[in-house]
Amino acid sequence: LLGRMNYEYIFKYIIIGDSGVGKSCLLLQFLEGSFKANHEATIGVEFGTKIITTDNGTNVKLQVWDTAGQDAFKSITRSYYRNAAGALVVYDITNKQSFINVKKWLEEAQVNGNKEMVLALVGNKSDLESKRQVSQQEGLDFANKNGLIFIETSAVSASNVSQVFMNVASQIIRKINSSIIDPSIEEFGVRKVGTMGDQGALRRDRVAARPSGSENNGGCC
Ligand code: GTP
Ligand code: MG
Repeated sequence: LLGRMNYEYIFKYIIIGDSGVGKSCLLLQFLEGSFKANHEATIGVEFGTKIITTDNGTNVKLQVWDTAGQDAFKSITRSYYRNAAGALVVYDITNKQSFINVKKWLEEAQVNGNKEMVLALVGNKSDLESKRQVSQQEGLDFANKNGLIFIETSAVSASNVSQVFMNVASQIIRKINSSIIDPSIEEFGVRKVGTMGDQGALRRDRVAARPSGSENNGGCC
């Protein structure tokens, strides 16, 4: 239905945080509106795209990179902070350690990302209130101290999931409109798309999305 929807910008996002906090589930809920209960740790990096309409009516294609939280993948995922316009730093409200580790993830993002990257602190699994180990106030305090958007989500109930992606996009739009982010500079992770460029981008995505092995058998990439 929306397959031919036009968009004005492409924003690149990255999702980071400890293994098991629900990064992949958040992305799946955002992209497809579904929840998958069994945890398959992400290997390296996966990505998905979705077109959204921000609160000021701008259509934006989000290109979201979902990273592996396991330490073994740190050096691989590090290169994906480059050219990211937005970052979701996710912890699990039922896992205190994942909240303590947010400090490390934030440092990773600040060292490896661009200085105008819009960051959101995301306390996931808000459906598990009885198992809560991190209060909403603790999350909010940390976010305020570090200039982050703050939101609690549930990938199970979908509570606040699309809002996270939208709020980050709205803040990026504000930075573009006030010339803090220049879309012509690649490192900001924002691309302005003309009508022709739009079609070009769609074509490239289809090529990239084609399953491997359809033309050459077994070759990687
Ligand atoms: P890595 O890929 O290893 O970095 O982990 P991840 O952050 O991508 O975690 P993933 O999305 O795979 O979720 C881990 C587990 O948490 C899954 O088995 C889900 O069942 C569960 N989970 C994720 N989000 C929620 C949530 O909002 N509520 C509840 N109750 N469980 C969740
Ligand atoms: Mg994952």
